Amino acid sequence: MSKELIYQQHFLPSSRAELVDVLQHTLTKTRFEHVLRVEQTALQLALQNDVSLEKASIAGLTHDYAKQRPNQDFIKVIQENKMDPDLLNYGNAIWHGVVGAELVKQELHVWDEDILNAIRHHTTGAQVMSKLEQVIYMADYIEPGRDFPGVVEARQITQASLSAGVAYQTKQTLQYLIEHDKAVYPKTIATYNAWVATNGGN
Ligand SMILES: [Fe+2]
Ligand SMILES: [Fe+2]
Repeated sequence: MSKELIYQQHFLPSSRAELVDVLQHTLTKTRFEHVLRVEQTALQLALQNDVSLEKASIAGLTHDYAKQRPNQDFIKVIQENKMDPDLLNYGNAIWHGVVGAELVKQELHVWDEDILNAIRHHTTGAQVMSKLEQVIYMADYIEPGRDFPGVVEARQITQASLSAGVAYQTKQTLQYLIEHDKAVYPKTIATYNAWVATNGGN
């Protein structure tokens, strides 16, 4: 897999090298290395699932763009963009995707809604997810640096079927949140109903 994908479709006004440079100066070393691995995993999954490599590269690299922003930045975006006020009851774990996508739009000038949705939904999933959204959701979960019980199974399932991987991750995540008494963002439940529950969702 080439690391030096050349962007030709104008989803981003800069080159990949310029984007990587911005990220290197925006993110901690650990997170920067994570996004590079997510990009590479996303490119592999994109190739296997007939998804645009250029979109997979941009979404993979930018999915955690806002992860290290202070809370005030997210609160400001939620208020200025008149986003769902319920978002204020959550924190960085939800905000860096759902709200972070707006910062990617404003600051990196990415306007493609498929790429923005992949960023928005990378932690919660969504009832309906494009192939690109599924690729980023899974690449973030199974990139080679991940090490948690079940990651080997998650990789095997995702190789066999991208949508089965989405279902697997969704179920594991909800189980984790419940076991640890953590708040569940409603979209995560909607994702579970649509992708996992046999009598729920659509
Ligand atoms: Fe993230
Ligand atoms: Fe991530």
